[in-house]
Amino acid sequence: MKIDALQKAAVEVLRRNDRGTFTAPSPRQYPHLWLWDAGFTAIGWAALGDFERAYREIRAAMRGQWRNGMIPHVVFYGWPSAYFPGADIWRSDLAPEAPKDLPTSGITQPPVLAFVVWILFQHDPERQRAEAFAREAFPALQAYHRWLHATRDPDGIGLSCIVHPWESGMDNSPLWDLPLSRVPAEGLPPYQRADAHWVPEEQRPRRSDYDRFLALILHLRSHQYGESGVRSSPFRVYDVLFNALRHRSEEALLAMARALGEPSGEIEEWLERSRAAFQTWLWDRERGFFLDWDGVAGNRIPVIASGGFLALYAGLATSEQAQEMVDRYLRNPAAFAPDGGTRHLVPTVSKMEPGWEPRRYWRGPIWINLNALIAHGVARYGFHELAQEIHQHTLDLIARSGFHEYYDPRTGEGLGIGDFTWSAALLLGWELLSAQ
Ligand code: DGY
Repeated sequence: MKIDALQKAAVEVLRRNDRGTFTAPSPRQYPHLWLWDAGFTAIGWAALGDFERAYREIRAAMRGQWRNGMIPHVVFYGWPSAYFPGADIWRSDLAPEAPKDLPTSGITQPPVLAFVVWILFQHDPERQRAEAFAREAFPALQAYHRWLHATRDPDGIGLSCIVHPWESGMDNSPLWDLPLSRVPAEGLPPYQRADAHWVPEEQRPRRSDYDRFLALILHLRSHQYGESGVRSSPFRVYDVLFNALRHRSEEALLAMARALGEPSGEIEEWLERSRAAFQTWLWDRERGFFLDWDGVAGNRIPVIASGGFLALYAGLATSEQAQEMVDRYLRNPAAFAPDGGTRHLVPTVSKMEPGWEPRRYWRGPIWINLNALIAHGVARYGFHELAQEIHQHTLDLIARSGFHEYYDPRTGEGLGIGDFTWSAALLLGWELLSAQ
C-alpha cells in the first residue's frame, strides 16, 4: 500500500473510533478514555490539522484529574460497559480527591500529556488559540507533575514509582515478573475477564497476572488510592519508560513556563534531580543499559526491555551510553535487531530474555508508539539512519497488517485488537513527536 492510502486508512480509523468527547483506543476492547492513548491520539488529530479536536482529547483526559493532582489512567466516559475492571471495581467514589461526577481508575499512566501539549502549542497555526490552550492546561499539568514528585517518590530518590504494572502501560512485561511474584493473590473475589473475548487468550496477559493486577487494585482501593497505599504497596518500581516520559514532559513544561512567562524554578529543580537519578539509580554499568529499580527489593530489575531506550527520547543518556545501548542491543541481532528469526524492529523485549514471548502483548511484540519514541530517541543522538529504518519497518508492518494493537516481530502479523487508535494516530503524527 502507498503512503497516501495508508494515511487515508488511518484517518478512517480515527474517525470510526471518535466518540465525540474522546477517541476510544478500540470501541470494543477499550471503550473508555486511557491517558497515554489520549496523548498519542491528540497527536494524530493535530497531524490532520484538527487542533480543536486535539485539544478536546486532552481536555477529556484532564477532566478526570483528581484534587490531589493525579490524572487517572482511565476515565470511564460511556460507563457502564463490558470492560473489566470497570468503575464498579475501581470505586473512585471512595476517594475524597476523585471527581464527584465522573468515575475514573485510581492509578495513573505514563505522563505524556505535557510534551503533547507543547507539541500542539508549537504547531497550531492559530497562535491565540494555541496560547489560550497552553494557559488553560499548564496549571493542571504542573499540579499533576507536583503529585508525581510528592506522592510517588516515597524513597526520596528523585524518580516517581509506579504501584501497578498498568501505570507503566506495559502491562505484562517480563520486567514485572519478579516484583509481581511478591504480590499475594489469595482470597480474591471471583471475577470474569473481558479482554480475551475479542483477542485470543494466548496474545493477552496470563490469568496469574490478572490475579495480581486485581489484587493490587484492591490493595490501593483499601487505602482510597492515597499515600499510605503507595508506601505499603508490595509492587513499587521506578520504571525507566515512565520516568523518561516524565522527564521529557518536564522539559516541555519548562519550555511552556518560559513561553507563558510563568515561574520555572521548581521545574528546573525537577529536571536536575531526575537527570542525576537516572545515572545513580537506573544506569547499569555492567549491562550497559538503563534498568528499572525495584523499590521493594532494593535492586535493579535485570531485564532488558525496549522501554530503556526511552532514556534517549528524554535526552538522559550520555553520548557514550547511547552508543553502547545501540551497539550492544538495538543493532544486535541476538537482542532487538532482525536475525532471520525476527524480521522487524523493535521488539518490546530483548530476544535474549527467557521471558520473551513474541505474540503475547507486552512480552515481545512490536508496538507503534514505542517504535516512534525509540526512533526519535536515537535520532536525538545522531543515529539518523537507524531512526529511518525503524520508521520504514513501522510503515511495512502497517502496510502488511493494518492498524493493529501490536505485531509479531517474526512475521509482521497483526496481533491484539484491530483498528487500534494510536497505531493510526502515530502513522499520521510520527514526525510531530520529534518536536522538542
Ligand atoms: C487493559 O485492560 O489491558 C489495559 O491495558 C489496562 O489499563
